[in-house]
Amino acid sequence: MADLKLTSSRALAVAILSWFCVSADSIGHAAMGGAATLLKIDVTSPANGSSRLWQGQVAYSITAAYDGKSTRFGEIQPNDVVLETRYVSDVAMASKVGRMLPTALNTISQSNCAGCHDFEAGGAGPSYAAIGARYSGTPAAAATLALHITRGSSGVWGSSAMPPHPDVTAAQARVAADWIIGHGNDAGVHYYLGNTGSFRMIPAERPGPRAGIVATAFYTGPLRPGDTHRTGTGADRVVVMGLAHH
Ligand code: HEC
Repeated sequence: MADLKLTSSRALAVAILSWFCVSADSIGHAAMGGAATLLKIDVTSPANGSSRLWQGQVAYSITAAYDGKSTRFGEIQPNDVVLETRYVSDVAMASKVGRMLPTALNTISQSNCAGCHDFEAGGAGPSYAAIGARYSGTPAAAATLALHITRGSSGVWGSSAMPPHPDVTAAQARVAADWIIGHGNDAGVHYYLGNTGSFRMIPAERPGPRAGIVATAFYTGPLRPGDTHRTGTGADRVVVMGLAHH
């Protein structure tokens, strides 16, 4: 009897384990753009392999779908989608560009940061590029910045105040602060929130004839209705060649 119990609980464990593997596998396939059962994310425009002028604006559109819900029908929040654009000096290197969204972008896309902060342009709050430039030599400032994110801040940048963020944990604030200081001012990588919008063809150097932009779309929302944790699983990408003005 004890033996039987052991066997059946082992069988159960195996069943749970294989169910988990199958689920993880389908997420993985969705991430690669294959048959999706849980999550599918697609960059529908611009077309992969298209060419655009350097410094020009490129309209983009991304669809994300899971569990029969889609951005197409407004059932998935636009801000559950983040587009990363990464300059490459040779588009042949595109496949080597990682498909990992920095964790900080999950917090930034899921909280209300975008209401006041743009990545490059000043708004109600300073841009992440400006904050990154100001603190780039002082990584120790991250602890203070993290406190400012969670508790609010005033008087550092001007007369406007940042409200406290009780929705952001101390750990999430720290990860966001570290990313803003370390990468908010990166010349070659830019982020855009929302499933539609436009990105700019920003070269990180004087671009050669094979240079381009690798645009990768990420989903940062819940994987199931009611999920409270944010996943960042799933990605799809297009490569856009840069054209010089003549
Ligand atoms: C309602 C507008 C608003 C929102 C929402 C907002 N901020 Fe701010 N943020 C500001 C303003 C204004 C400042 C400048 C405050 C100051 O001068 O002390 C600021 C400053 C900052 C700074 C620099 C702090 C310093 O000490 O230099 C960081 C980092 C920052 N915000 C990150 C975030 C993040 C991450 C979020 C989302 C979780 C966020 N902010 C949401 C308005 C906002």
